Amino acid sequence: MKKITSLLLFLLFSGILFAQEGPFYATMDATDANNLKKEMPQEIQIIAIKQNQAAVYISEEAAHAMHRNVVTHGPGYVFKASEELALKAIEPKPAKKQRRVLDFTINQDAAVAEAIEMVNAQNIEDQIIELQDYGTRFHTKPEAEQAVLDLKDKWEAMAQAAGRTDVSVRIVNHVNTGMPSAVMTIEGAETPDEFVIIGGHIDSTAPGSNNNVAPGADDDASGISTITEVARVLFDMEFVPNRTVEFMAFAAEEIGLVGSAEIAEEYKNNNVNVVAYVQFDMTNFAGSLNDVYITTDSYNSNDLNAFLIELMEYYNASGPHQITYGNTACNYGCSDHFSWADQGYEAAFPFEASFSESNPNIHTPNDTYDITGDAFKAAKFAKLGLEFVIETAKSNTLSVSEIAGLDFDFIVNNKQVIYTLKNVSETLQTLSIIDVAGKKVFSANDLGQQGALSIENLSQGFYVAVFTTQTNKVITKKFVLN
Ligand code: BES
Ligand code: ZN
Repeated sequence: MKKITSLLLFLLFSGILFAQEGPFYATMDATDANNLKKEMPQEIQIIAIKQNQAAVYISEEAAHAMHRNVVTHGPGYVFKASEELALKAIEPKPAKKQRRVLDFTINQDAAVAEAIEMVNAQNIEDQIIELQDYGTRFHTKPEAEQAVLDLKDKWEAMAQAAGRTDVSVRIVNHVNTGMPSAVMTIEGAETPDEFVIIGGHIDSTAPGSNNNVAPGADDDASGISTITEVARVLFDMEFVPNRTVEFMAFAAEEIGLVGSAEIAEEYKNNNVNVVAYVQFDMTNFAGSLNDVYITTDSYNSNDLNAFLIELMEYYNASGPHQITYGNTACNYGCSDHFSWADQGYEAAFPFEASFSESNPNIHTPNDTYDITGDAFKAAKFAKLGLEFVIETAKSNTLSVSEIAGLDFDFIVNNKQVIYTLKNVSETLQTLSIIDVAGKKVFSANDLGQQGALSIENLSQGFYVAVFTTQTNKVITKKFVLN
């Protein structure tokens, strides 16, 4: 008994308590912190401000108020387990190491064609409903833990049905929440120490403090169901990746990115080489004109965003698998991809709508499947997810690009695009250059077989060059202007 009491006292005084059972440390935008201080002076203590980021100590109440500020969500805060960690998090980061440009290519035409044809919206619908039927997945509720354990069983059953011996599923327990996360790993056949990760959060939230009715259908049963369908298709087509592929369902995102922050930190501490991370959080509400919105927040990877655009230009420009896209931004660390970016990894967050037109029902009892009614939209995200995984992790069976039949050279030098198509039977028609916000910034016609075009008006950054030929083949090239 005495042992238990002293353990409890130790936990109490060392601040190792589960998040949101009382006041806690966090970081947030300094402007938001100051506004909150004006509104609820008793509920927030601003400990320090550095470069527009504040380290704060806030009450649960204040945290809820922040969510209510912009109707149902944001601006956000990121949970920190101690004052020390909060202070450390707002220290200016040493300039990002000049990483090599991501060397992703697009040449898995046959595998991608097969994969995107197999995506089944019904599976996504079924799983969204299954997840919302827990009633709540708020991180402190037994239902939340049950949802994670059941997802582990589901993923294991899928891998087993496909006869995979290279797949494992594990539960990750956390320090700052009682809710666990789930991680499924397909071990890479050639370079298992290089990781490609897609993830989403499996917890949910609702206003008020009881959180008894928090169906979280779009936020984020949709993302979990989308990545599960990606995995199902990869298994059914017997896809064996060269790089290790992981699927992650995070705990306690809604209270400040808790599960993903702990996992991303652990990966960084173990020097895990994550080549790219893509987040799926809210994939099924068609609130805006386009299907997918690339988020351009500064912590996201421009290089990875350009690659997602390249994939959509190459595989989804028209036809039954068409995906249209635009851009938007959260303007704060709004979901788990921030945890990965914060550890220095290349992260992206393709989103369902423009930020202001996204699902207004999230974080309420009305975030249910019938708001969307079908999973047509999420199916498009599953296709993008498949294209991303297949092209970044690559199959270990040889596969040849359809455009490999075209002998094409492309370089960017001295602010000139220089291209040569050596096949005599084919000519190039058009070139469009697209920036990382998905905006067409350059176009030219009647390119013939070779030429050099000046792009001196373009500023520094990542771009995607999209060529079309007279027989309607598409050639895409991602490039960077320094
Ligand atoms: N899915 C939301 C993030 C979101 C909502 C992005 C709407 C874009 C538009 C996520 O689950 C969430 O609610 N995040 C919190 C912040 C987090 C750090 C607690 C939020 O936005 O309030
Ligand atoms: Zn949310």
